[in-house]
Amino acid sequence: MTIQHQSDVLIIGSGAAGLTCALQLAEHFSINILCKSELSEGATYYAQGGIAAVLDNDDSVESHVNDTLIAGAGLCNEESVRFTVENSKKAIEWLIKHGVAFSQQTETDGSLSYHLTKEGGHSHRRIIHSADATGKAVQNTLSECIVKNENIHLFEHYNAVDLITSHKLGLIGPNNRCLGAYALNRNSDEVEVFKARFVILATGGASKVYLYTSNPDVSSGDGIAMAWRSGCRVANMEFNQFHPTCLFHSKAHSFLITEALRGEGAILKLPSGERFMPRFDERAELAPRDIVARAIDHEIKRLGIDCVYLDISHKEPEFIKSHFPTIYKRLLKLDIDITRDPIPVVPAAHYTCGGVVVNKDAATDLGNLYAIGEVAFTGLHGANRMASNSLLECLVYARAAANKIISLKDQPAEEACLPDWDESQVSNSDEEVVVSHNWHELRHLMWNYVGIVRTTKRLERAQRRIQLLKQEVKDYYANFKVSSNLLELRNLLTVAELIIECAQRRKESRGLHYTLDFPQTDELAKDTIISKLD
Ligand code: FAD
Ligand code: SIN
Repeated sequence: MTIQHQSDVLIIGSGAAGLTCALQLAEHFSINILCKSELSEGATYYAQGGIAAVLDNDDSVESHVNDTLIAGAGLCNEESVRFTVENSKKAIEWLIKHGVAFSQQTETDGSLSYHLTKEGGHSHRRIIHSADATGKAVQNTLSECIVKNENIHLFEHYNAVDLITSHKLGLIGPNNRCLGAYALNRNSDEVEVFKARFVILATGGASKVYLYTSNPDVSSGDGIAMAWRSGCRVANMEFNQFHPTCLFHSKAHSFLITEALRGEGAILKLPSGERFMPRFDERAELAPRDIVARAIDHEIKRLGIDCVYLDISHKEPEFIKSHFPTIYKRLLKLDIDITRDPIPVVPAAHYTCGGVVVNKDAATDLGNLYAIGEVAFTGLHGANRMASNSLLECLVYARAAANKIISLKDQPAEEACLPDWDESQVSNSDEEVVVSHNWHELRHLMWNYVGIVRTTKRLERAQRRIQLLKQEVKDYYANFKVSSNLLELRNLLTVAELIIECAQRRKESRGLHYTLDFPQTDELAKDTIISKLD
């Protein structure tokens, strides 16, 4: 018999978005949180640069809004941008209240103030940070609060498989509603049922669909795929952000070199020592990410080189060591002393700007289902996310979802009996290696054909190959017991298909989507919103 769990709220994901929402709801509801790995494992933990917020008296909401709109290449939803920025100060104060230790500096009068750094696209210093390990400070602080809270129950190593909806159960009623989720307990290999009045997707992004990425393994787009299978609309999946500067080193994969380095004066150079960014944009190293990543990609291809170099060695060694202690120590272990040596860097997949369509309360198209953080499409990022706006979005929309759910507290809960997971038709997998081969093939082809520079032919080629992989995985899913790898592969294939579908629909180049067949940017900016019913 399948194990059944019940709570008022089920949160799938334990990053900045999921934990913030849980802490805001815990006073009113019982909460179950699922996470695929350990509590802290997610993109949040690895965030380096910081969180953008209007905190300085010389800065203004208008300026932060304006910078975000410019970085978003005409596609941001201004209402969402304004809402996020207006709530930025409150979000940071909430983190400080919960104990996050942001970096401070001593003013000339001896008083302490928070140090604010700068990153690409920002016209002011407005990034509050905890040295170069901001995500770790946020994640660890919120995790400590979560484990102490009696209303919150944590299920680590639980992989959500699919949402349970009223329509799937054949229940009548005008609107499809979410009633809970199935999740694979990775310790027992059994699927369990989680029933809840409200379900919140906080599963992060999908950058694992690319071969080279700054993201941890959990970023496999599960929430986007689950919501899509349940009939939610998905938008702007063609805007995959490639971070310009990930470490290029055979012994260190996925290690990011924060944009704050460029904010504090680091320069991008070719192997010859020539600085090249001013040839591409007057903002040089501090141009928005899409521009810097494309410029690096262009130079790498033009010169047939493996990487370019990021150099901060002209700054005082003490400044470098105190502002970037994590990067300094990590690279020293690889025999790179950043106070003297330039850092070899390449672009890598970093952030999913598109996602599950939500409204201002973070509600999706499916009744009782909310989506917050990187999994969601709020309209904030447009065609290119500005640095350090992502953690901010997690915090602001987690609160918006919590407020909405609290306002619905007195509504009666739906009586429904959720069926057990049916394994009567499946057996143990005979060839798990097929799954890992397909994983590899998918991530390769996405990197080669659906990367920084696209063409119509490359997208078609990728689409044909994905159809073959999809058929194989469909057969596999129908015949064998589910495993974590299989679930992730199935979700990544869905995400890959959604990315290609959106990319094919966009007959222009804008922000992060650049295609040689349509290099122009249209006058009218339109989101790519897709639905299963199209
Ligand atoms: P995550 O923190 O990724 O958490 C996802 C959670 O969902 C995890 O707990 C995971 O286990 C769980 N999960 C996923 N699928 C399932 C499933 N099927 N079942 C159960 N659980 C599941 N942004 C900034 O604003 N500033 C920065 O400085 C910054 N630096 C970054 C540096 C790096 C290296 C990276 C990778 C990203 C950075 N970003 C930064 C982006 C930002 O960190 C992320 O967008 C943000 O942390 C996402 O938070 P989240 O809560 O949505 O998801
Ligand atoms: C970085 O520190 O460069 C990452 C910031 C971000 O992704 O917003």
